[in-house]
Amino acid sequence: MPRYSALVPAAGSGARFGAEIPKQYLGLAGRPMLYHTLSVLCECERIEHVWVVLSAGDEWWDAYDWKSLGPKLRVERCGGATRAESVANGLAAAAGVLRQDDWLLVHDAARPCLAPDRLLALCDGLADDPVGGLLAVPVADTLKRADGDRRVSATVPRDGLWQAQTPQMFRYGLLCRALAEHSGVTDEAGAIEAAGYRPRLIVSDTTNFKVTYPADLRLAELVLRGRKS
Ligand code: C5P
Repeated sequence: MPRYSALVPAAGSGARFGAEIPKQYLGLAGRPMLYHTLSVLCECERIEHVWVVLSAGDEWWDAYDWKSLGPKLRVERCGGATRAESVANGLAAAAGVLRQDDWLLVHDAARPCLAPDRLLALCDGLADDPVGGLLAVPVADTLKRADGDRRVSATVPRDGLWQAQTPQMFRYGLLCRALAEHSGVTDEAGAIEAAGYRPRLIVSDTTNFKVTYPADLRLAELVLRGRKS
């Protein structure tokens, strides 16, 4: 039987958000954003362990009570300078527990609205896949390429274009090797692609967006409160 675990890189500073504290700790529906992200993973029966990777100097984690997330949660203070480095450090920290062929789901701390049914769709859709893959949505808008004056230089055909989300799910051993050899990537799938594989896309929905700007936080609040009512 395949085994599933998750890893959440949460060592970013949230510079684009521009808040006083890292965005993963901003208040959302009565909890820090990171709580919502972790709780979907911790509540999923399929997932055995959930690692959260904090920066070494994180001053916020200890200010909250995470006990209600249960015993799956493991905290590592080994974040790096980039997301890829934080993930690679987290993978190394998990080495004593994970087997080479275990599935590992890497999920952004800043995606607090992952729906449980999309998480299961990812696990089920890739259970027998030789490579692994990621949640994603087909691009719906018309895409424009801008020049230096912010004038449109081209309309980019959107056929076949997808927006990558997380979780991204790959075998632990393959992911470790791919990230060790291809560290300049912005997501795990990028490293797997660079290693010569073709990750599978599993259809997600747009509520699993990444909170990047202040308006995203207000939208996340509406999504989460809407699910509870
Ligand atoms: O900044 P951005 O939203 O793209 O970051 C995506 C995820 O990567 C977030 O969960 C963030 O905390 C994490 N990250 C990290 N270490 C870094 C930079 C980002 O764990 N050095």
